[in-house]
Amino acid sequence: MTRSFGFTLSATDGRARTGRIDTPRGEIRTPAFMPVGTAATVKAMMPENVRATGADILLGNTYHLMLRPGSDRVARLGGLHKFMNWERPILTDSGGFQVMSLAGLRKLTEEGVKFKSHIDGSVHNLTPERSMEIQAELGSDIVMCFDECPALPADEKRVAESMRLSMRWAQRSRDAFGDRPGHALFGIMQGGLSPELREESAEALRGIGFDGYAIGGLAVGEGQEAMFDVLDYAPGLLPEDQPRYLMGVGKPDDLVGGVKRGVDMFDCVLPSRSGRTGQAFTRRGVVNIKNARHQDDPRPLDESCDCPCCRNYSRAYLHHVMRAKEIISSMLMTWHNLHYYQVLMSEMREAISAGRFDTWEAGFHAERAQGDI
Ligand code: GUN
Ligand code: ZN
Repeated sequence: MTRSFGFTLSATDGRARTGRIDTPRGEIRTPAFMPVGTAATVKAMMPENVRATGADILLGNTYHLMLRPGSDRVARLGGLHKFMNWERPILTDSGGFQVMSLAGLRKLTEEGVKFKSHIDGSVHNLTPERSMEIQAELGSDIVMCFDECPALPADEKRVAESMRLSMRWAQRSRDAFGDRPGHALFGIMQGGLSPELREESAEALRGIGFDGYAIGGLAVGEGQEAMFDVLDYAPGLLPEDQPRYLMGVGKPDDLVGGVKRGVDMFDCVLPSRSGRTGQAFTRRGVVNIKNARHQDDPRPLDESCDCPCCRNYSRAYLHHVMRAKEIISSMLMTWHNLHYYQVLMSEMREAISAGRFDTWEAGFHAERAQGDI
Protein backbone atom coordinates (compact mmCIF):
# COMPACT_ATOMS: atom_id res chain seq x y z
CA MET A 1 0.00 0.00 0.00
CA THR A 2 1.27 3.47 -0.83
CA ARG A 3 0.50 5.66 2.13
CA SER A 4 -0.15 9.15 0.92
CA PHE A 5 1.07 12.54 2.03
CA GLY A 6 -1.09 14.37 4.56
CA PHE A 7 -1.03 17.03 7.29
CA THR A 8 -3.00 16.81 10.54
CA LEU A 9 -3.12 19.54 13.17
CA SER A 10 -3.65 18.23 16.69
CA ALA A 11 -3.60 21.47 18.73
CA THR A 12 -3.20 25.20 18.43
CA ASP A 13 -2.29 27.79 21.06
CA GLY A 14 -2.63 31.37 19.87
CA ARG A 15 -1.17 31.22 16.38
CA ALA A 16 1.23 28.37 17.29
CA ARG A 17 0.29 24.95 15.91
CA THR A 18 1.33 21.35 16.49
CA GLY A 19 0.52 18.26 14.48
CA ARG A 20 2.10 15.83 12.06
CA ILE A 21 2.87 15.31 8.40
CA ASP A 22 2.40 11.72 7.24
CA THR A 23 4.51 10.46 4.39
CA PRO A 24 5.12 6.94 3.03
CA ARG A 25 8.58 7.14 4.65
CA GLY A 26 7.27 8.04 8.07
CA GLU A 27 5.81 10.75 10.23
CA ILE A 28 7.19 14.28 10.68
CA ARG A 29 6.18 15.83 14.00
CA THR A 30 5.51 19.57 13.70
CA PRO A 31 6.76 22.14 14.43
CA ALA A 32 9.79 20.38 12.94
CA PHE A 33 13.44 21.29 12.57
CA MET A 34 15.19 19.73 9.55
CA PRO A 35 18.96 19.28 9.84
CA VAL A 36 20.77 20.19 6.64
CA GLY A 37 22.41 17.36 4.69
CA THR A 38 23.50 19.40 1.68
CA ALA A 39 25.89 16.96 0.02
CA ALA A 40 24.13 13.69 1.04
CA THR A 41 25.51 13.90 4.57
CA VAL A 42 24.79 15.88 7.70
CA LYS A 43 28.45 16.80 8.15
CA ALA A 44 30.25 14.95 10.97
CA MET A 45 27.19 12.80 11.81
CA MET A 46 26.22 9.20 11.02
CA PRO A 47 22.57 9.12 9.86
CA GLU A 48 21.53 6.89 12.79
CA ASN A 49 22.95 9.50 15.13
CA VAL A 50 21.04 12.28 13.40
CA ARG A 51 17.94 10.18 14.01
CA ALA A 52 18.97 9.70 17.66
CA THR A 53 18.87 13.48 18.14
CA GLY A 54 15.15 13.28 17.27
CA ALA A 55 15.14 14.42 13.63
CA ASP A 56 12.22 13.12 11.53
CA ILE A 57 13.37 14.60 8.22
CA LEU A 58 16.52 15.94 6.55
CA LEU A 59 17.06 18.61 3.92
CA GLY A 60 19.13 17.94 0.79
CA ASN A 61 20.21 20.32 -1.97
CA THR A 62 19.51 20.05 -5.69
CA TYR A 63 22.32 22.50 -6.50
CA HIS A 64 25.10 20.54 -4.77
CA LEU A 65 23.91 17.06 -5.72
CA MET A 66 23.40 17.90 -9.42
CA LEU A 67 27.02 19.05 -9.59
CA ARG A 68 28.47 16.25 -7.45
CA PRO A 69 27.88 13.30 -7.66
CA GLY A 70 25.10 14.04 -10.23
CA SER A 71 21.41 13.19 -9.76
CA ASP A 72 21.50 10.60 -12.57
CA ARG A 73 24.22 8.73 -10.69
CA VAL A 74 22.25 8.91 -7.42
CA ALA A 75 19.20 7.58 -9.31
CA ARG A 76 21.19 4.64 -10.75
CA LEU A 77 22.41 3.84 -7.23
CA GLY A 78 18.85 3.58 -5.94
CA GLY A 79 18.02 7.17 -4.94
CA LEU A 80 19.21 9.56 -2.27
CA HIS A 81 17.70 7.69 0.71
CA LYS A 82 19.57 4.49 -0.11
CA PHE A 83 22.71 6.35 -1.25
CA MET A 84 23.12 8.18 2.08
CA ASN A 85 21.52 5.53 4.31
CA TRP A 86 18.63 7.68 5.56
CA GLU A 87 15.32 5.91 5.03
CA ARG A 88 13.08 8.59 6.54
CA PRO A 89 11.68 11.64 4.71
CA ILE A 90 13.93 14.01 2.78
CA LEU A 91 12.99 17.50 1.59
CA THR A 92 15.10 18.93 -1.21
CA ASP A 93 15.57 22.60 -1.98
CA SER A 94 15.24 23.40 -5.65
CA GLY A 95 18.58 25.01 -6.47
CA GLY A 96 17.75 28.57 -7.55
CA PHE A 97 18.49 30.09 -4.16
CA GLN A 98 21.82 28.26 -3.88
CA VAL A 99 22.85 29.25 -7.44
CA MET A 100 22.36 32.88 -6.45
CA SER A 101 24.48 32.57 -3.32
CA LEU A 102 27.17 30.05 -4.37
CA ALA A 103 27.67 29.76 -8.12
CA GLY A 104 30.12 31.81 -10.13
CA LEU A 105 28.98 33.77 -13.21
CA ARG A 106 25.15 33.57 -13.40
CA LYS A 107 22.67 34.55 -16.11
CA LEU A 108 19.05 34.84 -15.06
CA THR A 109 16.37 34.72 -17.78
CA GLU A 110 12.65 33.93 -18.00
CA GLU A 111 13.63 30.37 -18.87
CA GLY A 112 15.82 29.78 -15.81
CA VAL A 113 19.37 30.33 -14.68
CA LYS A 114 22.67 29.49 -16.37
CA PHE A 115 25.64 29.34 -14.02
CA LYS A 116 29.20 28.21 -13.45
CA SER A 117 29.79 25.47 -10.86
CA HIS A 118 31.59 26.66 -7.71
CA ILE A 119 33.35 23.26 -7.72
CA ASP A 120 34.97 23.04 -11.17
CA GLY A 121 33.74 26.01 -13.19
CA SER A 122 31.63 23.84 -15.52
CA VAL A 123 28.52 25.49 -17.01
CA HIS A 124 25.00 24.28 -16.12
CA ASN A 125 21.38 25.26 -16.62
CA LEU A 126 18.60 25.08 -14.07
CA THR A 127 14.98 25.64 -15.00
CA PRO A 128 11.79 24.76 -13.14
CA GLU A 129 11.45 21.66 -15.35
CA ARG A 130 15.05 20.54 -14.81
CA SER A 131 14.82 21.13 -11.04
CA MET A 132 11.67 18.95 -10.85
CA GLU A 133 13.47 16.24 -12.86
CA ILE A 134 16.54 16.31 -10.59
CA GLN A 135 14.45 16.22 -7.40
CA ALA A 136 12.50 13.25 -8.82
CA GLU A 137 15.76 11.44 -9.65
CA LEU A 138 16.96 12.02 -6.10
CA GLY A 139 13.67 10.53 -4.86
CA SER A 140 12.88 13.51 -2.63
CA ASP A 141 9.70 13.20 -0.54
CA ILE A 142 9.06 16.95 -0.35
CA VAL A 143 10.04 18.78 -3.53
CA MET A 144 10.42 22.56 -3.53
CA CYS A 145 9.37 24.81 -6.40
CA PHE A 146 12.14 26.47 -8.40
CA ASP A 147 12.40 30.09 -7.30
CA GLU A 148 14.82 32.97 -6.91
CA CYS A 149 15.12 35.75 -4.41
CA PRO A 150 17.07 38.98 -4.09
CA ALA A 151 19.25 39.71 -1.05
CA LEU A 152 17.77 42.39 1.20
CA PRO A 153 17.80 45.35 1.20
CA ALA A 154 16.62 45.55 -2.42
CA ASP A 155 14.36 48.12 -4.05
CA GLU A 156 10.67 47.23 -4.25
CA LYS A 157 10.62 47.13 -8.06
CA ARG A 158 13.39 44.52 -8.14
CA VAL A 159 11.63 42.49 -5.38
CA ALA A 160 8.29 42.66 -7.27
CA GLU A 161 9.80 41.52 -10.59
CA SER A 162 11.69 38.72 -8.91
CA MET A 163 8.58 37.56 -7.02
CA ARG A 164 6.46 37.54 -10.21
CA LEU A 165 9.15 35.53 -12.02
CA SER A 166 9.16 33.04 -9.12
CA MET A 167 5.35 32.77 -9.37
CA ARG A 168 5.56 31.97 -13.11
CA TRP A 169 8.23 29.41 -12.22
CA ALA A 170 5.92 28.03 -9.50
CA GLN A 171 3.26 27.31 -12.15
CA ARG A 172 5.90 25.66 -14.39
CA SER A 173 7.16 23.64 -11.39
CA ARG A 174 3.59 22.46 -10.66
CA ASP A 175 3.04 21.46 -14.33
CA ALA A 176 6.38 19.64 -14.54
CA PHE A 177 5.98 17.86 -11.18
CA GLY A 178 2.80 16.15 -12.39
CA ASP A 179 0.98 13.62 -10.24
CA ARG A 180 3.30 11.67 -7.94
CA PRO A 181 1.33 9.95 -5.14
CA GLY A 182 3.20 9.95 -1.84
CA HIS A 183 5.42 12.84 -2.91
CA ALA A 184 4.65 16.46 -2.10
CA LEU A 185 5.34 19.71 -3.92
CA PHE A 186 5.63 22.92 -1.87
CA GLY A 187 5.22 26.44 -3.27
CA ILE A 188 7.51 29.24 -2.05
CA MET A 189 6.12 32.68 -1.16
CA GLN A 190 8.37 35.64 -1.99
CA GLY A 191 7.85 39.41 -1.82
CA GLY A 192 10.55 40.70 0.52
CA LEU A 193 9.30 42.97 3.30
CA SER A 194 6.24 44.23 1.41
CA PRO A 195 2.80 43.11 2.68
CA GLU A 196 1.26 43.85 -0.74
CA LEU A 197 3.81 41.71 -2.59
CA ARG A 198 3.56 38.90 0.01
CA GLU A 199 -0.23 38.95 -0.44
CA GLU A 200 0.08 38.86 -4.24
CA SER A 201 2.54 35.97 -3.99
CA ALA A 202 0.35 33.99 -1.57
CA GLU A 203 -2.67 34.47 -3.82
CA ALA A 204 -0.75 33.25 -6.87
CA LEU A 205 0.45 30.14 -5.00
CA ARG A 206 -3.00 29.33 -3.55
CA GLY A 207 -4.42 29.63 -7.06
CA ILE A 208 -1.95 27.05 -8.38
CA GLY A 209 -2.42 24.74 -5.38
CA PHE A 210 0.36 22.97 -3.47
CA ASP A 211 0.74 20.32 -0.76
CA GLY A 212 2.48 22.83 1.50
CA TYR A 213 3.71 26.40 1.41
CA ALA A 214 7.10 27.86 2.23
CA ILE A 215 7.89 31.40 3.23
CA GLY A 216 11.05 32.27 1.31
CA GLY A 217 13.13 35.37 0.93
CA LEU A 218 13.70 35.86 4.66
CA ALA A 219 16.87 35.61 6.74
CA VAL A 220 18.66 37.23 3.80
CA GLY A 221 20.03 40.25 5.63
CA GLU A 222 16.89 41.96 6.96
CA GLY A 223 17.39 41.21 10.68
CA GLN A 224 15.11 39.49 13.19
CA GLU A 225 12.76 42.41 13.82
CA ALA A 226 11.97 42.88 10.11
CA MET A 227 11.60 39.11 9.70
CA PHE A 228 9.13 38.91 12.62
CA ASP A 229 7.21 41.86 11.13
CA VAL A 230 6.66 39.75 7.97
CA LEU A 231 5.85 36.65 10.04
CA ASP A 232 3.19 38.64 11.91
CA TYR A 233 1.01 38.39 8.78
CA ALA A 234 2.60 36.05 6.17
CA PRO A 235 1.57 32.66 7.66
CA GLY A 236 -2.04 33.92 7.83
CA LEU A 237 -2.03 34.40 4.03
CA LEU A 238 -1.50 30.65 3.57
CA PRO A 239 -4.02 27.78 3.93
CA GLU A 240 -4.64 26.77 7.59
CA ASP A 241 -4.80 23.08 6.80
CA GLN A 242 -1.42 22.72 5.08
CA PRO A 243 2.14 22.87 6.39
CA ARG A 244 4.02 26.19 6.44
CA TYR A 245 7.79 26.12 6.11
CA LEU A 246 10.12 29.03 6.90
CA MET A 247 13.21 28.47 4.75
CA GLY A 248 16.76 28.85 6.05
CA VAL A 249 15.82 29.84 9.62
CA GLY A 250 17.41 30.08 12.10
CA LYS A 251 18.82 30.78 15.56
CA PRO A 252 16.98 29.24 18.52
CA ASP A 253 15.05 32.46 19.27
CA ASP A 254 14.12 32.74 15.56
CA LEU A 255 12.55 29.27 15.76
CA VAL A 256 10.60 30.21 18.89
CA GLY A 257 9.38 33.45 17.27
CA GLY A 258 8.49 31.55 14.07
CA VAL A 259 6.50 28.87 15.87
CA LYS A 260 4.68 31.55 17.90
CA ARG A 261 3.61 33.13 14.59
CA GLY A 262 2.31 29.92 12.99
CA VAL A 263 5.28 28.27 11.24
CA ASP A 264 5.42 24.43 11.14
CA MET A 265 8.83 23.65 9.60
CA PHE A 266 12.34 25.09 9.63
CA ASP A 267 15.80 24.24 8.29
CA CYS A 268 19.15 25.86 8.95
CA VAL A 269 22.86 25.03 8.72
CA LEU A 270 23.48 26.92 11.96
CA PRO A 271 23.54 24.04 14.50
CA SER A 272 25.74 21.85 12.31
CA ARG A 273 27.97 24.56 10.81
CA SER A 274 28.59 26.47 14.03
CA GLY A 275 29.22 23.19 15.86
CA ARG A 276 32.20 22.70 13.57
CA THR A 277 33.56 26.15 14.37
CA GLY A 278 33.20 25.82 18.15
CA GLN A 279 29.85 27.48 18.86
CA ALA A 280 27.46 25.54 21.06
CA PHE A 281 23.80 26.43 21.59
CA THR A 282 22.59 25.85 25.12
CA ARG A 283 19.61 26.79 27.30
CA ARG A 284 21.75 29.64 28.63
CA GLY A 285 22.68 30.97 25.17
CA VAL A 286 25.75 30.56 22.97
CA VAL A 287 28.99 29.11 24.32
CA ASN A 288 32.23 29.52 22.35
CA ILE A 289 34.16 26.45 23.44
CA LYS A 290 37.48 27.78 22.09
CA ASN A 291 37.44 30.50 24.74
CA ALA A 292 40.30 30.07 27.26
CA ARG A 293 37.88 30.15 30.21
CA HIS A 294 36.88 26.54 29.36
CA GLN A 295 40.37 24.99 29.37
CA ASP A 296 40.23 23.66 32.96
CA ASP A 297 36.44 23.30 33.24
CA PRO A 298 35.42 19.71 34.16
CA ARG A 299 31.71 20.43 33.66
CA PRO A 300 29.74 19.51 30.51
CA LEU A 301 28.62 22.09 27.95
CA ASP A 302 25.11 22.00 29.35
CA GLU A 303 24.36 20.36 32.74
CA SER A 304 20.74 19.76 31.78
CA CYS A 305 21.48 18.16 28.37
CA ASP A 306 21.43 14.36 28.02
CA CYS A 307 23.21 14.14 24.65
CA PRO A 308 26.32 11.90 24.40
CA CYS A 309 28.57 14.98 24.25
CA CYS A 310 27.24 16.38 27.53
CA ARG A 311 26.95 12.99 29.25
CA ASN A 312 30.55 11.95 28.55
CA TYR A 313 32.82 14.92 27.88
CA SER A 314 33.95 18.02 29.76
CA ARG A 315 34.24 21.57 28.46
CA ALA A 316 38.00 21.18 28.97
CA TYR A 317 38.07 18.18 26.62
CA LEU A 318 35.90 19.91 24.00
CA HIS A 319 38.12 22.98 24.25
CA HIS A 320 41.21 20.82 23.71
CA VAL A 321 39.92 18.84 20.71
CA MET A 322 38.49 21.96 19.09
CA ARG A 323 41.78 23.85 19.47
CA ALA A 324 43.69 20.81 18.19
CA LYS A 325 41.25 20.59 15.25
CA GLU A 326 40.55 16.93 16.03
CA ILE A 327 37.71 15.42 13.97
CA ILE A 328 35.86 14.38 17.14
CA SER A 329 35.34 18.05 18.01
CA SER A 330 33.03 18.45 15.00
CA MET A 331 31.23 15.20 15.82
CA LEU A 332 30.55 16.05 19.48
CA MET A 333 29.66 19.70 18.98
CA THR A 334 27.34 18.94 16.03
CA TRP A 335 25.63 16.17 18.01
CA HIS A 336 25.02 18.49 20.94
CA ASN A 337 23.72 21.34 18.77
CA LEU A 338 21.35 19.13 16.76
CA HIS A 339 20.14 17.53 20.00
CA TYR A 340 19.53 20.96 21.53
CA TYR A 341 17.52 22.06 18.46
CA GLN A 342 15.39 18.90 18.57
CA VAL A 343 14.74 19.24 22.31
CA LEU A 344 13.68 22.84 21.67
CA MET A 345 11.17 21.71 19.00
CA SER A 346 9.89 18.91 21.20
CA GLU A 347 9.35 21.27 24.14
CA MET A 348 7.44 23.67 21.87
CA ARG A 349 5.23 20.83 20.56
CA GLU A 350 4.42 19.78 24.12
CA ALA A 351 3.78 23.35 25.27
CA ILE A 352 1.36 23.94 22.38
CA SER A 353 -0.44 20.64 23.10
CA ALA A 354 -0.79 21.66 26.74
CA GLY A 355 -1.96 25.18 25.85
CA ARG A 356 0.94 26.80 27.71
CA PHE A 357 3.13 28.13 24.91
CA ASP A 358 3.35 31.68 26.35
CA THR A 359 4.49 30.40 29.76
CA TRP A 360 7.01 28.11 28.10
CA GLU A 361 8.30 30.99 25.95
CA ALA A 362 8.76 33.23 29.00
CA GLY A 363 10.83 30.47 30.63
CA PHE A 364 12.90 30.04 27.46
CA HIS A 365 13.84 33.75 27.41
CA ALA A 366 14.38 33.93 31.19
CA GLU A 367 16.85 31.04 31.14
CA ARG A 368 18.84 32.59 28.28
CA ALA A 369 18.90 35.95 30.06
CA GLN A 370 20.87 34.31 32.91
CA GLY A 371 23.81 33.77 30.53
CA ASP A 372 26.32 30.91 30.50
CA ILE A 373 27.13 29.32 33.92
N1 GUN B 1 16.47 28.95 1.52
C1 GUN B 1 16.38 30.06 2.28
N2 GUN B 1 15.55 30.96 1.69
C2 GUN B 1 15.12 30.42 0.53
C3 GUN B 1 14.26 30.88 -0.53
O1 GUN B 1 13.72 31.99 -0.51
N3 GUN B 1 14.07 30.01 -1.57
C4 GUN B 1 14.67 28.78 -1.61
N4 GUN B 1 14.44 27.99 -2.66
N5 GUN B 1 15.48 28.34 -0.63
C5 GUN B 1 15.70 29.15 0.42
ZN1 ZN C 1 24.48 18.21 24.94
